[in-house]
Amino acid sequence: MDAVKQSLLFVIGVSVDKTKTSIQPVEWRDGRLCLLDQRRLPAETVWLTFDDANTVAHAIHDMVVRGAPAIGITAAYAVVLAARHAWNIAGVNWKQAMTAPIARLEASRPTAVNLKWALDKMSDLYLALPDEQAPEQQLLELAVQIHQSDIEANHQMGRLGAELIETGSQVMTHCNAGALATGGFGTALGVIRQGVAEGRIEHVHVNETRPWLQGARLTAWELLNENIACSLNADVAAASLMASGRISWIIVGADRIAANGDVANKIGTYGLAILAKYHRIGFMVVAPTSTIDWQLSDGDLIPIEQRSPAEVTQLAEKQIAPEGIDAVNPAFDITPASLIDVIVTEAGVVRQPTVETMKALQNGRNM
Ligand code: MRU
Repeated sequence: MDAVKQSLLFVIGVSVDKTKTSIQPVEWRDGRLCLLDQRRLPAETVWLTFDDANTVAHAIHDMVVRGAPAIGITAAYAVVLAARHAWNIAGVNWKQAMTAPIARLEASRPTAVNLKWALDKMSDLYLALPDEQAPEQQLLELAVQIHQSDIEANHQMGRLGAELIETGSQVMTHCNAGALATGGFGTALGVIRQGVAEGRIEHVHVNETRPWLQGARLTAWELLNENIACSLNADVAAASLMASGRISWIIVGADRIAANGDVANKIGTYGLAILAKYHRIGFMVVAPTSTIDWQLSDGDLIPIEQRSPAEVTQLAEKQIAPEGIDAVNPAFDITPASLIDVIVTEAGVVRQPTVETMKALQNGRNM
């Protein structure tokens, strides 16, 4: 049995409060970390409970929780678990026992920079704490703050992004950049939720997002739960849907944005951006500033996670390709800034991203 399955498993119903919009996939309950197991949606709503940081690292790698902001928030809570364990086993030497679990968390998925961003914030705090005092409470306060600020950022991005969409529009989204991928509400789906609430969006086209099917399994589930008008299409139908002239915007999230505005997002995003340019459709990326890696000059430097070939050769754990076939499975691709019309962050909107317009965002000149 793998490490994730060993953790306490329980099943509960998820009730969706339509006034608050959307569920939250990460929760801290009674001193433990609870994750909604996204591998089992939409068929089952199963929550896994964790009290060990190393098991959380496995859960991130195995996609129990996924989406750039959600894995950052999860890692922040995992540092709280690591600190509790370190204090219990090592007392005043607890800081030495933090290095290994934090390294495992950082290595769990390489592309989304939110993971490292959250771990750096948590590390800066724990290194500044006194050796002789239990660190759990102060670290928990910071993890909760990281979680809450992500939700607030999503609502702000929702408002800023929705303003750009004309009344009665149809939009297309890829992967899942919704409540499930964040602290709650969502980035791309946050803009879509807000756009629907304001009457600007009348229909959402959901790409299935092979191979892991985040669109078919997660985005479709989120939108249906809120009665948002939507339809699912195979990824290969995106071009002809765009050619039909009905779609005004492609709206996606991001896993890492370089300092020049190049964007790493779910595999297939780059192709959609090329198609959008050809069909003169707007291309909008929605991501919090925690997704921007100011250290990287361009997208070529972003590490791309390569996942198991089995995700391509199998469907729902059933072999669909001939045994022995080689398969490549990059989880993300890079969309050059030149194909992007607008990047929406909680700190402001960057139109036609370049080194200069991104710098203006960094310097607070974009609202
Ligand atoms: O492999 P995943 O499911 O973690 O990939 C998720 C995405 O690519 C999302 O679009 C991105 O993380 C933004 S989520 C707000």
